[in-house]
Amino acid sequence: MSVLLPGGAGFIGSHTAVELLNAGKEVIIVDNFSNSKPEVLEAIKKITGKEFKFYNIDYIDREKLEEVFEENEIEAVLNFAGYKAVGESVKEPIKYYTNNISGALVLLDTMKKYNVKKFIFSSSATVYGEPEKMPITEECKTGGTTNPYGTTKLFIEQILKDIYASDNTWDICILRYFNPIGAHESGLLGEDPQGIPNNLMPYIVRVAAGKLKELSVFGNDYKTHDGTGVRDYIHVVDLAKGHVLALNKLEKEGQGLYIYNLGTGTGYSVLDIVKAFEKATGVKVPYKIAPRRPGDIAMCYADPTKAYKELGWKATKTLEDMCRDSWNAR
Ligand code: UD1
Repeated sequence: MSVLLPGGAGFIGSHTAVELLNAGKEVIIVDNFSNSKPEVLEAIKKITGKEFKFYNIDYIDREKLEEVFEENEIEAVLNFAGYKAVGESVKEPIKYYTNNISGALVLLDTMKKYNVKKFIFSSSATVYGEPEKMPITEECKTGGTTNPYGTTKLFIEQILKDIYASDNTWDICILRYFNPIGAHESGLLGEDPQGIPNNLMPYIVRVAAGKLKELSVFGNDYKTHDGTGVRDYIHVVDLAKGHVLALNKLEKEGQGLYIYNLGTGTGYSVLDIVKAFEKATGVKVPYKIAPRRPGDIAMCYADPTKAYKELGWKATKTLEDMCRDSWNAR
């Protein structure tokens, strides 16, 4: 039996493929390299010393996806396919709704056809909108997303709840990621956004490498300890391990719809990250204070207790690890 990873060549998918292979799972990756590169597949093999199947297809292509289900015994699907650039989603909502939501529907419908009913979904803390309290628990209300990307996550969560309500033989796990950064410690895998990065850590890495002039810190008048935005940064390898534990739960206990926050529980500001990065790497990060970015909130960090209690999962890597590994993987 294999586990299928649409989007498995991407940042989080590739790190999760490594952890699944290390845990002895048979992995099948489906990816069309829309935001990743073929070299990632070689890196996964090099790190793990293991082989896996790969299909270069778009997961929204039902016919080709069905061939994958025909040719393999698939036990579970972990869905990493999806566009994720917040700014682009505001400019191109149809592209985002089509790829993320129609793609997920094609995938889920194909799973149903082949009676594969274990599904792990990459959601995001963005579903909490303006969070009602801090730290954020899974019971906090969702909604009020500020961009189409975030809304695709929210809608897919609802679709999954409706599927489970209609047929409780599905085993579904929704993982709400906080801010994944870092990279595999080998330096062979990492985050490699095309064009100018939108997210903080890839931007810092480009500035430190001299490829961009300076970081713009978006606002220093938030109600936080130094006025800059606070987030819960989590090492991508910790996040990847959370998927292995979620899969174990679905395999052992099954029959449920589970939702977990995957974060460290600690919030760091933009300036905390700049300082930690400089300390971990010895490289300066020039920055300037710029206006707030529309749609940003002051603070967002997780209460990860539920994932610890029910999955036995806890983030173990430090902010220093995250900064060092992000830098080494550049
Ligand atoms: C965003 C998305 C989140 C998504 C995540 C990873 C929203 C509201 N947020 O999170 O859903 O999962 O990206 O793709 O949809 N910052 C700067 N300068 C920069 C870049 C960022 O100061 O050049 C600041 C931001 O204002 C923020 C922090 O750094 O305070 C983190 O920003 P970013 O890495 O973009 O992630 P989020 O906006 O938290």
